[in-house]
Amino acid sequence: MQSVLNILEARISEVMDEVSGQTGCVALVRPATDARFGDYQVNGVMPLAKKLKTNPSELAQKIVAKLRPCELNLFNQLDQNDTKLNFATTGKLGDICQTPEIAGAGFINLRLKTDFVVDNLLQISRASENFGIEKVEKPKTIVVDFSGPNIAKEMHVGHLRSTIIGDCICRLLEFEGHKVIRQNHIGDWGTALGKVILGLWHMCMAEKHGGKPYYENDIEDLKIYANNKQELKNVCNRIYIRHEEDWEEDFIDKRGDGNKRFGPFLNDLKNKGDSKIWENITILYQYVNLLEESLVGLGLMTLTRVKKKSYNNNKENFEYISIPYETLSRHITAMLQKIDDKDNEQEKNAWTLVRRISIRYCQKVYKRLNVKLKSKDIRGESYYRRKKRLVSVVEDLRKAGLAMESEGAVCVFPEGFKTKEGKPLPFIIQKSDEAYLYQTTDLAALRYRVTGIEYERKTYKADEIIYVTDARQKQHFQMLFEVAKMAGWDIKQRTEDPSSPKGLRGAGGGQNKECRTENAECRKEDGGQRTEFVHVTFGSVLGEDGKPLKTRSGENVKLKELLDEAIERARKVVEEKNPGLSEDEKKSIANAVGIGAVKYADYTNNRTSDYIFSFDKMLAMEGNTAPYMQYAYARIRSIERKAGERNIDIERELAGIKTLSITEPSEIDLAKYLIRYGEAVSSSAGDYRPNYLTAYLYDLAQKFSSFYNDCPVLDASADKRPTRLLLCDLTARTIEHGLHNLLGIEVIEQM
Ligand code: ARG
Repeated sequence: MQSVLNILEARISEVMDEVSGQTGCVALVRPATDARFGDYQVNGVMPLAKKLKTNPSELAQKIVAKLRPCELNLFNQLDQNDTKLNFATTGKLGDICQTPEIAGAGFINLRLKTDFVVDNLLQISRASENFGIEKVEKPKTIVVDFSGPNIAKEMHVGHLRSTIIGDCICRLLEFEGHKVIRQNHIGDWGTALGKVILGLWHMCMAEKHGGKPYYENDIEDLKIYANNKQELKNVCNRIYIRHEEDWEEDFIDKRGDGNKRFGPFLNDLKNKGDSKIWENITILYQYVNLLEESLVGLGLMTLTRVKKKSYNNNKENFEYISIPYETLSRHITAMLQKIDDKDNEQEKNAWTLVRRISIRYCQKVYKRLNVKLKSKDIRGESYYRRKKRLVSVVEDLRKAGLAMESEGAVCVFPEGFKTKEGKPLPFIIQKSDEAYLYQTTDLAALRYRVTGIEYERKTYKADEIIYVTDARQKQHFQMLFEVAKMAGWDIKQRTEDPSSPKGLRGAGGGQNKECRTENAECRKEDGGQRTEFVHVTFGSVLGEDGKPLKTRSGENVKLKELLDEAIERARKVVEEKNPGLSEDEKKSIANAVGIGAVKYADYTNNRTSDYIFSFDKMLAMEGNTAPYMQYAYARIRSIERKAGERNIDIERELAGIKTLSITEPSEIDLAKYLIRYGEAVSSSAGDYRPNYLTAYLYDLAQKFSSFYNDCPVLDASADKRPTRLLLCDLTARTIEHGLHNLLGIEVIEQM
């Protein structure tokens, strides 16, 4: 079943073609903003009149003449169920709308016929699934890259938005019938990991020293003396001396080989409980971070082992170099890029361990948030080191003459990007120390997704790649997309079939028919063989003071703690509303309401703006909040429970319905809104904006409320009751589907 909006758009556009002698006219049908003037409004006449240089209201009249039921009002005299009735005698919209009205300089207002609404509503309510919403004609393969936390650090509220907006986009696109491939592009070999690995070394040494782990005391000291230069220097010196001694002592064959303590320590760690280690990891990260910040400018040097460049096949292939003490973790990070090198075995073990534990932790958060991201969806930055993917990004861009050396680094200079000084802005793909960057892994990932991404044991080529990150990464993605296009890496199925002209072949599926959003990269002329890149951005989460949300001590708010607090507060709401519930019920309701409130509040905001995080607002029973929606749902379900108590057999009444009796204004209003669910879903998916959907659900709940105030349901007369039961049932099902299936928020049967 097509949505009403689509039917109207198609039919009216056709009439506009006919009347104007043009092709490809667009009716621009939009839902009316004011119900007094009708249900839909046609906005496309004026632009057409402008193009034809004619008078818009005359043009509108000509169009309306073809839309309306014929002059004699024949339609109403005929049997309305006569399917042979055709548009020629009834006007193009005769079966859908009352006589269209011209408004203003050339708008056309449309009001749906109640018969049409009834018919539509019956079809929707009988559709066994999906509310009769049709799947897209040409499903695409869409990669959605979202969440992507930098592991080894606790997830914070900044990760919330990418994670839940991305999840909602996936659900919407899947519901529309697309093949969705979720990708969690975790940051798993950046500086945070270097710090944690160094932190684990400290953990090992702290165990050797015994007692309360020294790093806990050190953290306190570093904080206390943060503003006292001399004392801070003393603390740093003390840490440094201990570090040097510990390092010198930990070897078996060669100075600094770590085989006496660190190696065995890592092996033991594998068998310890994850949660214990995880807690330590976050502290250790903090420790190294704080320490390295404090060390700046003190001039302390430390030794580290590096592989000799000239390699002479015996054991002497290492040398010791002296580096500033505060750069040690960066040095370890660099080793991560050669993680598969057997000389970096300890680092690899530590990395593997930290990665595993962090991922397990993230998965727990996803589960709590009801976000469909599984381990199989993880392909972090480190994945692209394999099969020389990073090496070939750099090589291929060099060969193509697109990448060049600039101040030691390898860069591409995409056109149109300038520094503040007006110089060409580099997209750096390899640093002077040969390290690869975020840009390099992103290019490799993009290429992989376009040429053949493996997923659930199949290989796909993305028709579209959607990246969900905060708006601050806008330029990164603009440049990424531009570089990919310069290199031709957006072209699917390139050069694999040499027999095809220019290496291009028809690529099934990808139809860049129209731009879905303002930032969709559409190129019609290529006939859909190019992958479309979309950057879906969002604003920041702010505290009540309007500044980025932080704890009182100025740290990032941990996502876990935020969720815990939401649940705790929701629990109080439940306690107030319904003290008689059992402990288990209270717990599960508090969980659904708390998590739901955090998610829903995020979704209701226009994603591109910042929003102020407020527990009070998101947990309010009034306004467009999760508890309001969950309550609205539970209330409808309670009507049904009451029906049961009064021996009203809802199922039988619904099954016996042949037609509906919709007469009261609020009834008509609700009915007309119910049939617009598909429109809400498609606009939400089309613009990647969950707030369109939440706005629809909220309006629906409000319309239901008016209906329920005006119209008795269980006490209605026998000719009205089935209709009203159907309205209740369909409203509940729609809310449930929207909340649960599309937003991943639990509904509750009673509250
Ligand atoms: N790890 C990145 C961050 O925390 C997000 C990754 C987004 N995805 C991507 N392909 N770059 O900012």
